[in-house]
Amino acid sequence: MTGSRIVALGHYQPSKVLTNDDLASLVDTSDEWITSRVGIRTRHIAAPDETVADMASRAAAKALAASGFDPQSVDLVVVATCTAMDRSPNTAAQVAARLGIPTPAAYDVNTVCSGFSYALATADHAVRAGAARRALVVGAEKMSDTIDWTDRSTCVIFADGAGAAVLEATDDFEGVGPVVWGSDPTKGDAVRIDGWDPTISQQGQAVFRWATTQLAPIAREACERAGVRPDELVAFVPHQANLRIIDAIAGKLGLSPDCVVARDVVDSGNTSAASVPLALSRLSERGELRSGGPALLFGFGGGLAYAGQVVRCP
Ligand code: UT7
Repeated sequence: MTGSRIVALGHYQPSKVLTNDDLASLVDTSDEWITSRVGIRTRHIAAPDETVADMASRAAAKALAASGFDPQSVDLVVVATCTAMDRSPNTAAQVAARLGIPTPAAYDVNTVCSGFSYALATADHAVRAGAARRALVVGAEKMSDTIDWTDRSTCVIFADGAGAAVLEATDDFEGVGPVVWGSDPTKGDAVRIDGWDPTISQQGQAVFRWATTQLAPIAREACERAGVRPDELVAFVPHQANLRIIDAIAGKLGLSPDCVVARDVVDSGNTSAASVPLALSRLSERGELRSGGPALLFGFGGGLAYAGQVVRCP
């Protein structure tokens, strides 16, 4: 086997939906400000007793069911999250226990908003190294636990949810393409979730500038490493931070007019490590991904870290 491919996807969003008007009754903001500056119209917020592991398990169960694989055959579970409150057992072990996966390697990854692309890369590398054959890769976040609901600069942006992918070993080298990853740790303070009662804060303009000026060449490099021209992509699924960032990067890539650009942030808000698999799975559910076509996944944010890879759509 020379690589891995995505076999199936799944996602989960909590039932509670918060609108911009709902937020305008909490803080000094407006639907006009939020839609014009960020592009978000609604976001999903978890119930107080709903955990990251709950959401991760629900998304993972859907992906696993869609794959048709026996849980016993899954030998690796990776969960990307920056909001799991439990240190032990980690989220991946909790997901495995709930899904009846008996003996997997199970670990969590925290690179904040780029987490899913990092987790996908580590799973792909494990398969390429012969250390795993079937992997479950999940991004799940309960950002609402970290939100200061009196801070209008963050409470309108972040949200909860989970997305998952099932991978299997394949002799198709192109299934999950080479990752391009890295970070600018000197700018790490631009997104903080710290302390024992962690609260999120960010220097929005600094992150916005970094994302819109530094990241397009890196996204293009991920295409080059996969031997795919940007105008051959059938889908571009970047981290769902801000519609203006998504459109700025997409505009610099030279995508074909037929390429589907994920704009899930409009309905789902910014779900950090969950945003890429959530957006990908929702596109797939709507039948908007051409099976076998190349899609560029591209996570970026806290760290400031980034990771991207071209995958073949399931
Ligand atoms: O996923 C993690 C990585 N994070 C990101 O990618 C975030 C990237 N940054 C952004 O998306 C944008 O910077 C934000 C959406 C966070 C903010 O948009 P902005 O256009 O950069 O606004 P700003 O921070 O420059 O604030 C402009 C004004 C300020 O008022 P003054 O000082 O000009 O009077 C803010 O106080 O908008 C004010 N403001 C708001 N007004 C109404 C900030 N938040 C709000 C709000 N409603 N919710």
